[in-house]
Amino acid sequence: MDAREMKIKAAEAALAHVEDGMRLGIGTGSTAEEFVRLLAEKVAGGLRVEGVPTSERTARLCLELGVPLKSLDELPELDLAIDGADEVDGRLNLIKGGGGALLREKIVAAASQRMIVIADESKVVETLGAFKLPIEVNPFGLVSTRIAIEKTADRLGLSGPISLRASGDGTFTTDGGHYILDASFGRIPDADALASRLNDIPGVVEHGLFINMASLAIIAGPAGARTLT
Ligand code: 5RP
Repeated sequence: MDAREMKIKAAEAALAHVEDGMRLGIGTGSTAEEFVRLLAEKVAGGLRVEGVPTSERTARLCLELGVPLKSLDELPELDLAIDGADEVDGRLNLIKGGGGALLREKIVAAASQRMIVIADESKVVETLGAFKLPIEVNPFGLVSTRIAIEKTADRLGLSGPISLRASGDGTFTTDGGHYILDASFGRIPDADALASRLNDIPGVVEHGLFINMASLAIIAGPAGARTLT
């Protein structure tokens, strides 16, 4: 089974949790896109759902495939969010934001009664941190914010390069008009502590540590899909 097939397996298993009439948060990334494709087939077959997309990219795909969308202001309380992840540990804590949508993903997950993570086995780790931690920052005071992040990390015994995310034509800008700093701290033994200290830095808009947000992870490997709870 190749990587795409594993993503489809995880997305299929997540679809089994979707019920008629649900208000769904719809994630961002290649795994979430497999879910959108499968969901669109069900919608074409008569399933009635309304989705709130976590990025402009996901919104475009949903519109293209006929998945009905609403804004989060129109549907402020959701039944279920389904999203991918860059890393998931055994306690269902996550690193997200590889696709740059972490702010909307976190807002949508927080507005949802449940969050199901869909991923392939390569995303499962013992301790978060091998994947660079995305930190969404306001462009104003970028250098000060980066220094504040370094000092915060240092107080927790963490260090490593922090790089400004680039895109083909310059600096990567999120759907909210912010920048992303990718922090290579390595293993993060106390992700909870780092998450709350990062939230205290004024220039930090949000970070990619999703602590205690996911209710279930569906992990697909060569032998099929398993769940982490
Ligand atoms: C986007 C995300 C994605 O869910 C994460 O990057 C995983 O993406 P993929 O399914 O393509 O591996 O957090 O901000």
